[in-house]
Amino acid sequence: MKRQEIKPATGKLGALVVGLGGAVASTFVVGTLAARQGKAKPIGSITQLATIRLGKRNENKFPKIKEVVPLADLNDIVFGGWDIFPENVYEAARHAEVLEQKDLDLVKDELQIIKPMPGAFDQNWVKRLNGTHIKKAATRWELVEALRKDIRDFKATNGCDRIVMIWSASTETYIPLCEEHQSLAALEKAMKDNVADKISPSMCYAYAAVAEGAPFIMGAPNLCVDTPAMWEFSAKQNVPICGKDFKTGQTMMKTVLAPMLKTRMLGLNGWFSTNILGNRDGEVLDDPDSFKTKEVSKLSVIDTILQPDLYPDLYGNIYHKVRINYYPPRKDNKEGWDNIDIVGWMGYPMQLKVDFLCRDSILAAPLVLDLILFTDLAQRAGFSGIQDWLSFYFKSPMHDFEHIPEHDLFIQYTKLKNTLRKMIGEETIDYLD
Ligand SMILES: NC(=O)c1ccc[n+]([C@@H]2O[C@H](COP(=O)([O-])OP(=O)(O)OC[C@H]3O[C@@H](n4cnc5c(N)ncnc54)[C@H](O)[C@@H]3O)[C@@H](O)[C@H]2O)c1
Repeated sequence: MKRQEIKPATGKLGALVVGLGGAVASTFVVGTLAARQGKAKPIGSITQLATIRLGKRNENKFPKIKEVVPLADLNDIVFGGWDIFPENVYEAARHAEVLEQKDLDLVKDELQIIKPMPGAFDQNWVKRLNGTHIKKAATRWELVEALRKDIRDFKATNGCDRIVMIWSASTETYIPLCEEHQSLAALEKAMKDNVADKISPSMCYAYAAVAEGAPFIMGAPNLCVDTPAMWEFSAKQNVPICGKDFKTGQTMMKTVLAPMLKTRMLGLNGWFSTNILGNRDGEVLDDPDSFKTKEVSKLSVIDTILQPDLYPDLYGNIYHKVRINYYPPRKDNKEGWDNIDIVGWMGYPMQLKVDFLCRDSILAAPLVLDLILFTDLAQRAGFSGIQDWLSFYFKSPMHDFEHIPEHDLFIQYTKLKNTLRKMIGEETIDYLD
């Protein structure tokens, strides 16, 4: 197989994080800085730890992905971004209370100099937050212009060769696809006409990134870049985009357990999922309009995996409920319960219970790192538009109107690895050998 033309990862890579002062973002920055100095292990990161089988099974060749795929080196990443609060990343990480003081101290000096640029914010889109570090602009188009200038200035000041932008900011209120999102021309017109209830701040960030030739990753369930307008724009600009909503705790479990039931042709009557969470994300999601965006993202998984149309006897009548409860004492340490009512031979009922005592940002941080490195790779390989080979990382993988999404974690993983194999000119693996 011919090796794909991939530009080398020379020079610095600017990682611009929207929501730089958040729990996930600050945990990502601290961990990456510590890992590159050998002071912590990047556990959970595919790009840093995973191996990839090359060749036939009897060849026994399992190099690390990063040894054979030309990813950017952690030492070449420069961190920056935006937040609506002015704290530097050290202060923000203390505030988030995810990591212990001893771990922040490992890289304290570097954290203190990483400061967010003022955010593009509109409280109508995130009701529970009152930001103080905010851009002033008369229209959405002006906001885009200001963000584009930020990107160019950051790139020049830090001598970056390339930029990737990732949204790790709060979940915006729910909005369905509207006229304004159907084409690039309609989107630009709505930005210039300042249609503020249809054009969210996240759409301005995404537009600015793509306009500046930077890949954009949507880590929350916001509609944002998942519109025909942005698919069109990213294809036109030759820029990769991907999303939505990092697949971390409960949904990761769902996309492992649901394929298991289906593979064994076991039926399902109901799936009740509930969570308690006490961080700022939990507070934002306590607002029904922000929760609606999350709920839509979390609910889509089971139906797509189980295909009730094909298996009406097994999956034709499932009661699926998802709840998130804001419970401050737990902070970032979310507890997620699942009660799963399954059906076996001759219709006999059984139950599965999952109690996942996880740490939200600890699970999400390695995903942020991988997505930055993989979208940068995609850009250098000449990929553009929706990157469905990165579906592995998302609860609600983006797809156009002609394709159905793939939710099964292990099919997603095979797709990711086969894409990497193809990129480097290796045979893809179908497990028949
Ligand atoms: N941690 C997980 O497991 C997980 C999984 C899937 C999705 N997510 C999503 O990732 C996002 C980040 O989660 P978190 O726990 O870090 O939340 P957080 O509330 O700690 O951080 C969000 C940050 O975004 C900032 N912000 C909000 N609007 C902004 C804007 N317009 N511009 C710039 N900054 C803005 C906030 O000030 C805050 O610092 C959330 O949307 C969350 O739903 C998290």
